Amino acid sequence: MKKYIVGNWKMNQTLANIDDFFSSLKIKDSKCEAWIAPQTLHVAELLKRSEGAPFNLEVGVQNICEHESGAFTGETSAVTAKDLGAGFTLVGHSERRSLYNEDDDLLNKKLHSALKSGLTVIFCIGEQLIERQNGMTNAVLKNQLIEGLEGINANSFNDGQLLIAYEPVWAIGTGEVATPEQAQEAHAHIRAVLAVELRLENKTIPLLYGGSVKPSNAAGLLSQKDIDGALVGGASLKGEDFSKLCEIASL
Ligand code: 13P
Repeated sequence: MKKYIVGNWKMNQTLANIDDFFSSLKIKDSKCEAWIAPQTLHVAELLKRSEGAPFNLEVGVQNICEHESGAFTGETSAVTAKDLGAGFTLVGHSERRSLYNEDDDLLNKKLHSALKSGLTVIFCIGEQLIERQNGMTNAVLKNQLIEGLEGINANSFNDGQLLIAYEPVWAIGTGEVATPEQAQEAHAHIRAVLAVELRLENKTIPLLYGGSVKPSNAAGLLSQKDIDGALVGGASLKGEDFSKLCEIASL
């Protein structure tokens, strides 16, 4: 399987920044899956610019509404994101969970809505620092998977249409990265929960690590057996760093 480098641009990047990003992409060809989720309003712009990029770039969104259409002022549906040309969406990023109070039940609805629209979903889970300190990491991850993926079975999605991102909350935007061993241990646990509890053992579900990934630490993480890629915030904003990450993931 190709490794994934997924840039989550969060609420960053002006059009001028996006120009800089594309003009500083360094590599001619990439053998990884290179994906970017800009702000939703920038999706069309990114799709246009990615046509001229030196390698294939998939464009997605960071969030969708759980409803397909209707009186939900300010929201964007999965159907509309798909119409716009987005290929994927994040669901359940820790910033959505904590800043916008998105709970497992809502995230489960979003997941179903996104899969139904044909979008690929990166479903994000991860423990808080206090939960890790109290030895609750595995239990938290298992619970987030069981609640978040309720009603999902092997027929709900195609191979590769659902990815799980493990993003320990204490490692997001803090510069404090999980060690490759810590990340591998969590990923092995996630793999086991998907197989045993959710009966998805025959599906291809790539597992991404996220939290302070940068060119200097990516190789150690990506060489782990159960780490299929990285979900990257800060280090995905600059074309040079994004290119370096893609090079590392293409090895
Ligand atoms: P950082 O890479 O900036 O820590 O952000 C991680 C993240 O939240 C990606 O979704």
